[in-house]
Parts: sequence; C-alpha cells; structure tokens
Amino acid sequence: ALVASTAAYAQSYPTKTITMIVPFAAGGPTDTVARLVGQSMSKSLGQQVIIENVGGAGGTIGAARVAKADPDGYTVLLHHIGQSTAPALYRKLTYNALDSFEPVGLITDVPMTFVARKDFPAKDFKELLAYVKANKNKVTYANAGVGSASHLCGMLFMSAIDTDLTTVPYKGTGPAMNDLLGGQVDIMCDQTTNTTSQIKSGKIKAYGVTTKSRVASLSDLPTLHEAGLPNFEVAVWHGLYAPKGTPKPVVDSLSKALQTALKDATVKQRFAELGTEPVAEARATPDAHRAFLKAEIDKWSPIIKKAGVYAD
Ligand code: MLT
Repeated sequence: ALVASTAAYAQSYPTKTITMIVPFAAGGPTDTVARLVGQSMSKSLGQQVIIENVGGAGGTIGAARVAKADPDGYTVLLHHIGQSTAPALYRKLTYNALDSFEPVGLITDVPMTFVARKDFPAKDFKELLAYVKANKNKVTYANAGVGSASHLCGMLFMSAIDTDLTTVPYKGTGPAMNDLLGGQVDIMCDQTTNTTSQIKSGKIKAYGVTTKSRVASLSDLPTLHEAGLPNFEVAVWHGLYAPKGTPKPVVDSLSKALQTALKDATVKQRFAELGTEPVAEARATPDAHRAFLKAEIDKWSPIIKKAGVYAD
C-alpha cells in the first residue's frame, strides 16, 4: 500500500507551492543563486517556488529547519560549502549534514574575492598583508557567522598570516556588504556573486581571487596565490537538499527541474555576469552530490580541527 501510495503521490507531485529555505539573509550570494534557480525550477515544476531566508549561526539554523521538515518535497534547502564545514565547527549540531538530507544536486562553483572598504589604506594585497599584521587589533573582518563561506575564507586567511582579527558576524554577506560599502567594517572575503558589481563600480576595493586561476569576469585581479599567499585556495559550491525520507521519485523530479535550471539561458547568462559557474551535468546528480558532500566533509574537518576553530 505504501509503495502504491508513494508512486501515486510522486506521480502528482508537485501539487502546491514549494518553499526553498536559504540559510542566509536576503540580498547575499546564496540568496541570489536561490532566486535564480528557484525561478527556473518553478517554471518546469509548474508550481511556485518561494524563497524563505532563515539566517543565523553560519547557515546551521536554516539547515536544521529543513532537516526537521516533512519529507514531502515541499521544503528544500539551498545551501553551500557550509554544509560540509558545520560538522567540524559545531559540536552540538542538531542534524547530520549527510544523513538528515537527501542531496538533490550540486549547482555552482563560485570563486571568492578578497575585498575591502573603498578607502582601505593598501594599494595591493602585499600592502594589505603588511597593514593587517601591523594593525591586527584595529582591522575588522566581516563574515556571515561561523560556518559561512566568508568565515571559512577568513579562517584560512587568518591561519595563513598567523594573525587573529576582530570578526563582525552578519546574517549574510548581503547585510555585511552594506557595512563594507558604508566603511563600517574593513575587509571581507566573499563570493563573486556578491562582489563583482561593487568592484566594477569602484564602491569597494578588490585585492585578489581565491581560486587557482584568475576569474574571467575579473581578469585584472591576481589570485591570492600570485599575490602573496602561496596555495591559498577556496571556492564556494552550492547544493540543493530535501529532508531525509523524501520519496526518491520526488527527489528525481526536483533533480530534473534543477538540471533544467542549470541549462536555462537566463540562469547561465546571469551566472556568467556574476562570475558563477553552473556545474557540469555529471556532477549535479543526487548520487554525485552525496559523494561530493562526503568528500568535502572529509576534506575540511581536519583543516578546521588543525585551525582550532569551532563555534560552541
Ligand atoms: C557566506 O559567506 O556563507 C555567504 O556569502 C553568506 C550569504 O550568502 O549571505
């Protein structure tokens, strides 16, 4: 009976609005990716996909909300690399990053940029390093809370220069960007999705990108590897998740709609403008994403433990 009803259920899915939880504040890069992907998925699923921003604790509050949601396919989580760093950072996590979810698919690979308020007194990354070390009790670093991508990049940066800076946590790097633009906070490492337009309009300063090679849409920016931090590399990926127990045919419908979104001309064009790459199809399947997420958890846990960073 259950199998029959699941099959019938899956056949008619979706019959109502789907809520896509973004575990960061509106206006940030994760939110931007979610709205683009959600808009396209609602077209192919024939139901509205509404975005709900549930910020706080580096994305773990929003992730916990979805982990506990009914596994009926009407609540999904659009998260990022923070799904793989939270297990090492939060010792009292109320969910298991791998076992509390059904991975639906990988979405993007996003470079990060090292940026500062526009009158920060350093003309290049070498000068920034010198200034930060000489003024370590003064310089403030913005992030979206322990477990965010901006936190991870900051943690790697502070470990690399062996200098702890005052960090100012926000519910997302959307609000953080407002303070950077206003000069209330000094530096930040954030996704190109959020920084590209501000860099190009000269409203903030950019010192480098965190990827192995330069970013085409910001080609005059050196990699941090070139600019003074050898082998410094971190890139943000975004993934879509449903609660554990969501029927496989429903996960497959969501996966199919996600794959369609990644081929959507509008999504691809917008991503390209934002320096964001949609992942190749092969990496975007549920099984491929589960394997990737496990590999990322295994990769970041020892690095986080070595840095001695944790949230609680
Ligand atoms: C992050 O730092 O994790 C993200 O930029 C947060 C956000 O998307 O607002």
